[in-house]
Amino acid sequence: MDSATTATQTKKAEDASASRESLTITDNRSGKSYEIPIKNGAIRAMDLRQIKVDPAEFGMMSYDPAYNNTASCISKITFIDGDAGILRYRGYPIEDLAEKSTYLETAYLLLHGELPTAAQLKEWTYSVTHHTFIHESIKKFLDGFHYDAHPMGMMISTIAALSTFYHDAKDIFDAESRRKQTYRLVGKMPTIAAFSYRHTLGMPFVYPDNELSYPGNFLNMLFRTTEAKYRPNPTLEHALDVLFILHADHEQNCSTNTIRGVGSSHVDPYSATAAAIAALYGPLHGGANEEVLHMLLEIGTVQKVPEFIKRVKAGEVKLMGFGHRVYKHYDPRARIIKKVAYEVFELMGKNPLLEIALECERIALEDEYFIKRKLYPNVDFYTGLIYQSMGFPISMFPVLFAIPRTSGWIAQWQEMLLDPEQKIARPRQIYLGHDTRQYVPMDQRG
Ligand code: ACO
Repeated sequence: MDSATTATQTKKAEDASASRESLTITDNRSGKSYEIPIKNGAIRAMDLRQIKVDPAEFGMMSYDPAYNNTASCISKITFIDGDAGILRYRGYPIEDLAEKSTYLETAYLLLHGELPTAAQLKEWTYSVTHHTFIHESIKKFLDGFHYDAHPMGMMISTIAALSTFYHDAKDIFDAESRRKQTYRLVGKMPTIAAFSYRHTLGMPFVYPDNELSYPGNFLNMLFRTTEAKYRPNPTLEHALDVLFILHADHEQNCSTNTIRGVGSSHVDPYSATAAAIAALYGPLHGGANEEVLHMLLEIGTVQKVPEFIKRVKAGEVKLMGFGHRVYKHYDPRARIIKKVAYEVFELMGKNPLLEIALECERIALEDEYFIKRKLYPNVDFYTGLIYQSMGFPISMFPVLFAIPRTSGWIAQWQEMLLDPEQKIARPRQIYLGHDTRQYVPMDQRG
């Protein structure tokens, strides 16, 4: 057999095997069959459109409320295997990053795709650190909030307001502009968060200290009082850094889907980030850590846990901090967080709510209701206890989530912008409302 014949046969075999990467759908209404290609384990929803009984029809759609089984993008940022409890940023296991990296290095990894060299990290750290100050007018803006304003509400508004200060942010297809807004967003989030906190206490704002680390400076802006130089406690500084790493990204969750969706209209990144913070604020997402604390306080004592679990099983309340759309096994972040919690408790004393949390977890992990539904502690179950022991008020918990998630949001926003397949996000609907009706004048309405 000559080489040309072999090549032809190989090509045929390849074609045959390639052609098996498809789905054959038979429309029982018409008896027609359609071959839909499979790529990366998925079919393209647009390939369904050819399925129609009448040529004048719109064509078949898929119906997927809450995107339970719809991939909205191709991404190279974060990988999750919910069944195996795996989380990786750009291929690096979360456990390794939590142990060996820092938040700023991890943020660089998410945004650039690779771990930085020493020189790159130095430049990145310098640039973020030198964008931590905020315009004095933003301080006046913050002053306008009521003393008991929720800091997440203040964050949403203030981050949106940044778009009015940086007009160059509209140049979203200019790489230099995106880089600048990234420094500003990652740099200013802790400052705005800390200023929001100080405002609610009626305490003077503390300006950033460029000599401190990212989490160390945040602690300085939050807690400094009369010290000439604030020195963060290394255990708390490290704990916060690890928590920031664990919260930096989590692929297509509600707030990330929001920044991609809002950003797809080509609005500036401050407005898109404000929308993402709003999505995170909800109790089913980043607001869950706040809800966990309220729940533990409501339970009150270890003895009352069984009674509370009974109410959960009766569908009266949720066990906040439990369950996840993707993880149907232990959330790998929760495991790392439990370790961090003990380090903080060793320094600050055990949080009295810990016993209640442990009892909830113990009962839930043995109970048929939770086992059957694959409900395990998620990232938010223990973070609240740590934050509380570190001295944060409960309302600041979701803010502590929003700060590190900013790097993930911006990485995802940028990936969406540069993806030639992405367009303005615009889902379809199945309309089941009225057909045309005649306008009814006011005096004839029932
Ligand atoms: N407590 C009690 N029951 C629960 C809980 C919970 N925390 N979570 C889910 N369930 C039950 C549901 O009632 C449902 O039961 P059913 O099949 O009898 O109707 C079943 O488990 C499946 O739940 P879904 O709501 O379909 O799961 P979904 O994937 O839509 O929701 C979510 C995931 C929102 C996280 C949910 O588990 C929840 O509300 N948890 C509490 C809030 C929370 O901790 N959120 C933080 C998530 S992590 C993050 O965003 C950072």
